[in-house]
Formats: sequence, structure tokens, C-alpha cells
Amino acid sequence: MRPAAATGERRGGRISVSYRPFRVCVVSYMSQILPGVRVLLGVSGGIAAYKAAELVRRLRDAGAEVRVVLSANAARFVTALTFQALSGNPVRSSLWDEAAEGAMGHIELARWAGQVLIAPASADLLARLAHGRADDLLTTLCLATTAPVAVAPAMNHQMWAHPATQANVACLRARGVRVLGPAEGSQACGESGSGRMLEAAELVAALAATGSVGELAGQRWLVSAGPTYEDIDPVRFIGNRSSGRMGFAIAAAARAAGAQVTLVAGPVALATPPGTTRIDVRSAQQMREAVLAQVDHSDVFVSAAAVGDFRPAAAAPHKFKKADGHSGLELSLVQNPDILAEVAARSPRPFVVGFAAETEQVEAHAQAKLARKRLDLIAANEVGHELGFERDDNALLLLWPGGREALARTDKTTLAQDLVARIARLRARQVAG
Ligand code: PMT
Repeated sequence: MRPAAATGERRGGRISVSYRPFRVCVVSYMSQILPGVRVLLGVSGGIAAYKAAELVRRLRDAGAEVRVVLSANAARFVTALTFQALSGNPVRSSLWDEAAEGAMGHIELARWAGQVLIAPASADLLARLAHGRADDLLTTLCLATTAPVAVAPAMNHQMWAHPATQANVACLRARGVRVLGPAEGSQACGESGSGRMLEAAELVAALAATGSVGELAGQRWLVSAGPTYEDIDPVRFIGNRSSGRMGFAIAAAARAAGAQVTLVAGPVALATPPGTTRIDVRSAQQMREAVLAQVDHSDVFVSAAAVGDFRPAAAAPHKFKKADGHSGLELSLVQNPDILAEVAARSPRPFVVGFAAETEQVEAHAQAKLARKRLDLIAANEVGHELGFERDDNALLLLWPGGREALARTDKTTLAQDLVARIARLRARQVAG
């Protein structure tokens, strides 16, 4: 965001810089499969472990990327080699693997996961999860990850019905763990009842369909929102009129569609959208640090923040005083880093969505930004003249290499949902190659 004037406009002791918007609307479309979803499949000890091999195949057919962790007891039923061949990735089973743990591999794996699925989940595994144990790699990962966790119980029907197991399951459900199944039927022990693991196809369908696993399940979205404040002295700053509403609405829409969302917020007075992780920052430099710390683990980056293009060369340690005989104040400004361009220049990089806030020649300026910053998509809005900023509605012109769509003026919540749907569709196409 470029200050309206180099010295900004003085208001009540602050120097602030402004903007305003323009308009948008559309139809929602989202894929029902699991394209690019990073599934960490935990396999615990039980005869149903053999079904997990088929599950890996089904998950990959659905477009998911799969990494497998075997518990020590699972390795008595099935081999790591089977899962390595089916998943195309190394299989981990121990917390004490020196090669993998040299770089804190379990934390890396916990961060990598977009969805944890434990299938089969034995009675013992459920009990250890319910008690927050971290006594092997699988339970440690479940504590360390921020990804949604689902379990597919499989055990003898008496074990499933036991009050201890039911209490553990209730505890896990209360913490947000999704419990998929079990099914009823004949069991390996020769008895019949509730305790069979759901079939692989049913588990994949459940992941794709259930609430915590919406259309964006397994995806990590990083969204920036709001203005940045560039301090002049301890009481004054250069800012802009962004309220954060557009970016917060995007974060909420992505979360509602099942994504794990990290929201990097400039100074705004808005409540955190439920289920999102919020990082508060003030200046452009702080926003850059926060974004770069998160971006390696993100599938999508949406830069809706109105980042200050310039900051004072040095913030004064004390309040500027009016000097006798001087009618003005000269500020020396230096350019801030372009966070969006920096993210887009990385390799590998997430799907990169920029915004363009323009007061004239909206499409031409946005096209130039799309090309110059090598973005996957740009959402252009006209600002100024009661448009864009500090309002509940907005309109967007979406431009991407080879495409264009206007979203008509509507409330920012609806607009954000439409934008998120477009991003999901374009990214799915990109992932599909
Ligand atoms: O917050 P609201 O009141 O709801 O208003 C919404 C909004 C108008 C702020 C929003 O819709 C919007 O347009 N956000 C981007 C504002 C902006 O900074 O546009 P720009 O054309 O100056 O920047 C282009 C892109 O580069 C933006 O994605 C911006 O986040 C990014 N950028 C800009 C400068 C910089 N130093 N680093 C950046 O990453």
C-alpha cells in the first residue's frame, strides 16, 4: 500500500494514509476428492492393520499424499516395506530413529500433516491418546500436530463396549477428534458385534465428507489481513484505512471449508475467526517475518493485508516537538520489503494470491502486478471514493494467467466464500497438472 502522500495526512496527532474500494459475486464449486491433502496415516496394532494397506491405495487414488507411521505393535502384523511401496514415502515407526530425528523429524512430520488418520485405532491407542501420552512416535505426533485428527477404531466388540473405552472415546470426541466407525459384523475373533474397522473406501469418503474435513481438508492456508503501522515516533505512525475485514472473512471462509488457517493480522479491532491461528503484528517488517516463518508449510498464501510500502528511515525515540519558526516536518521514508513478491519468488512455493488496491486503471495495474510478482491469482479492488476500505461490502476483479472473472459487489463474507472457492478450483487444476 502506497501512502496517499509522502508525508501522509495528519489526524489527531497521527499521520495516516488511506484508501478505499470497488465490487464483486459468483457460484461456489469445490472438489469432493482429496487433491493434495497430506494424510499422515497412523497404523496401530491389531489384525485390521492389513486393511490399512488398501486404505493407502484408496487415499492416493483420491489424490492425497500419504505418509505412514506404524506403532511397534502394528509392525507385528504388517511390514513397513508394504506401506513404503504403496505410499511412495519412507515409513516411520520409532521416535528413536537417529537419522530422521537428527533434524527433529517427528516435529517436521507433525507440521507436514494436513490430516491425521489413525486406522486401525486399537483400544490401547485410544486410551493413550485420551491420556495425552507421548510414549511412542504416533502418540507424540498426535500431540505435536495442529492438523485435525480422525480415528477408525477396530477391536473386539466387548473391548469397544467397555466403559473405559467408551469414556476414552467420549474424551477424544470432546477434544475434536473425529471417530469414524466402528462398523458391526463378524470379527476376526469369531464373534460378532460392533468393532470392525470401516472399509477403506468408507474411510476415504468419510474424510472427504465430514465436517472437519471439508473441501479444503488437509490444506494449510496462510492469510494476511489489515494494515501495517510504521512508527514515526512513540505516538505517531504511518498507516492506512484497512480494517482487516476482507482478510478476516477470507480466513473464516477457508477455515469453514476445512483448511487449517493461520492469519497474520496487522493492528485491527476484529475477533479472531473460530478455529484459526492468529499472529498479531504491527509493522511491515514484522508481517514479513511472521509470513516467512509460516510459508514453507502453507499450500496457499493470500495476501489481503494493506502492507505499507514505506516506513520512516528511523523511528524517533521521543515524540517530535514543534520547532519554533518551522511550519512543517520532513520525513525521510525508505521502502519496505514486498512480502508478496518475496513469497512468490520462493521455490517450492504455495499457491500465491495477491490483492491489488487501485484508485484508477484497476485492471491494467492489476495485470501488471500479476505478471511482475509472478502470482497465481490477483484480486483487484477499486479503493477510494467510499469503496473497499472500512466497509462491509466489496467487489473484486479476479485475474490469473489466461483468465478473468468479475465478482460483483456483495458483503465481504459472501465475497470471501466465492473467492476461496475460486482459489480452491484454480489450485486443484494446478495440482492436477
Ligand atoms: O481491510 P478492509 O477494510 O476490509 O479492506 C480490504 C482491502 C481494500 C485492504 C483489501 O481488499 C486489499 O486490497 N488488500 C491489499 C491492499 C494493498 O496493499 O494493495 P497493493 O496494491 O498496494 O499491494 C499489492 C499486493 O502486494 C497486496 O497483496 C499486498 O498485500 C502486497 N504487498 C504490498 C506491499 C508490500 N510491501 N508487501 C506486500 O506484500
